[in-house]
Amino acid sequence: MQPTERAVLRLVVVGHVDHGKSTLIGRLFHDLQLLPEGKLEAIRAMCERRGMPFEWAFLMDALQAERDQGITIDTAQTWLRAKDRDYVVIDAPGHREFLKNMVTGAASAEAALLLIDAQEGVRDQTRRHGYLLKLLGIEQVLVLVNKLDAIGYRHERVAAIEAEFRGYAASIGLPLAGFLPISAREGDNIASRSAQTLWYEGPTLVEALAKLRPMARAVDLPLRLPIQDVYKFDERRIFAGRIESGILRVGDTLVFSPSNKSARVASIEAWACDVPPVEGRAGQSVGLTFAEPIFVERGEVASHEAEPPVETDVFRARLFWLGRNPLRRGGRYKLKLNHQAVPVSVQAIERVIDTTDLSDQASEQVERNAVAEVVLRADSMLALDPHGRLTRTGRFVLVDGYDIAGGGIISMQGYADQRHLMVRRATNLTRVEHEVSLAARELRNGHRGGVLWLTGLSASGKSTLAVAVERRLFNLSYHAYVLDGDNIRGGLCADLGFSPEERAENIRRVGEVAALMSRAGTLVLTAFISPYRSDRDRARKAAGERFHEVYVKADLATCEARDPKGLYKRARAGQIRDFTGVSAPYEPPERPELTIDTGSLTIEQSVQRIVDHVQRHFAEGAAFAGG
Ligand code: ADX
Repeated sequence: MQPTERAVLRLVVVGHVDHGKSTLIGRLFHDLQLLPEGKLEAIRAMCERRGMPFEWAFLMDALQAERDQGITIDTAQTWLRAKDRDYVVIDAPGHREFLKNMVTGAASAEAALLLIDAQEGVRDQTRRHGYLLKLLGIEQVLVLVNKLDAIGYRHERVAAIEAEFRGYAASIGLPLAGFLPISAREGDNIASRSAQTLWYEGPTLVEALAKLRPMARAVDLPLRLPIQDVYKFDERRIFAGRIESGILRVGDTLVFSPSNKSARVASIEAWACDVPPVEGRAGQSVGLTFAEPIFVERGEVASHEAEPPVETDVFRARLFWLGRNPLRRGGRYKLKLNHQAVPVSVQAIERVIDTTDLSDQASEQVERNAVAEVVLRADSMLALDPHGRLTRTGRFVLVDGYDIAGGGIISMQGYADQRHLMVRRATNLTRVEHEVSLAARELRNGHRGGVLWLTGLSASGKSTLAVAVERRLFNLSYHAYVLDGDNIRGGLCADLGFSPEERAENIRRVGEVAALMSRAGTLVLTAFISPYRSDRDRARKAAGERFHEVYVKADLATCEARDPKGLYKRARAGQIRDFTGVSAPYEPPERPELTIDTGSLTIEQSVQRIVDHVQRHFAEGAAFAGG
């Protein structure tokens, strides 16, 4: 059982295989007085009998073999109970192993020790490890220059290594919590200050470790209870799962995501106690019954209403790929997240990181053991957390066929929490039916109502085309009307800015208005960047089959060269935040009904194509062809 109530510091130890990790860990346990009594002496005696010099690494091997009380060791993790806190030391043997470990758990480390061999200096692999720590978002990194004894404790050598590594860390934005010259074998600057390094004025390793902030206690974090199973007992339904974080009490109202149903906890079932518990805490597995009948399935995540998880069907991930076959753009995989298992496709591979020289390449695929930043799109809504906020509900695994092929951590940067778009607050509604049918309106108008949804980057030409098409259609006796981003944002959406959530709300409103107008028989032309697929899909759903997506296509360079409002220039200068294409994403349509490439067509040609499309699909003949 992992203690969850004590402060825990998860510490990953990285460095080249020969840079002395086992020695360091063995020495550290000893100096923190965490070793079982007599252990060290037993190993020393054993070495003597066999005529071998003592090595700290032997101690680690012995511990691994034995599983002493208070210390549990699996292949990668060692739990230690110190007086004031617990330590979990995660060893990252080789580069490949390291990747695997990160996928399976080290991803939630709060701190890292990065070892550099004083003789070898900063190597490619040192840089790689530094970069991977950065990718993982580990913000407390202690760099240890080890084997000082082997370089005669020379200050200049350490200073040179420090300067080189600090320069590198700064270039990738990796924060360093300290830089310590040590000898793990000799015990220099581990528990006590070394007489050999009078030039060093910083803390010992033990002091530096004590200063690292442990992980927030799981009970202090927002409640997350992923439902693992629903059991039926006589008339009762029991919802079972492990509380990953937070605390829940009988009487609490819980909301389930992504279904957004909620219910009040009636009881916490317990199998082996007389008095039923009134509280469940992080780390415990519980079975709940609810005061109201509620139907939710395995995979939903229960939380309190005030701090629910994110709901989304798209997210950004930092991914470690271990699959036999490369991960491909457009590839389909099974996503496992909490107890949700959902098909996903790889929407974009934003960069594949060459961990040797840290170049990022655009690539259509990710090879085994590579690190990549990707965008994943799920077939249905998911409940999740950004890893930076909650680690346990913020990581996932990808399954290819039957194999776990990769895993990663979630970031929502640039993407919206879609929860508020899912919730309907009003109740007791009764629909009113019109007496005038849409068919009757269309018969009188002489054309179908519908929505022509223009999407594209700023300056791609949406507004220009929309108003020109509106004029042409008007001349052809259409009831056509343009809804334009810059105009609507002056009124209906005046309260909205450009965060992902606000854009989503912008498009939700416009989508609803366009759908209403189309049902009134109007042919609506919309001109909004509408950068997110999920938002456009919602607008499509609101309007039904009369929704046609028009991709006004022009690449970023073209739009930036046009820059009619000077906005790209300002965005590049850092004066506009979240600017589409520069500092906010644009997701091009996957299967638009029409694509207008304004990079190669003239305005007149573009207008003509859209008008032709309208005539084909919305003119009188077309209107009644489909019944
Ligand atoms: S959308 O993303 O929510 O669909 P919308 O089309 O309504 O955007 O508004 C885009 C217009 O707002 C742009 O044409 C531009 O004039 C202006 N604008 C101001 N700030 C931004 C920004 N950060 N990103 C994009 N457009 C912006």
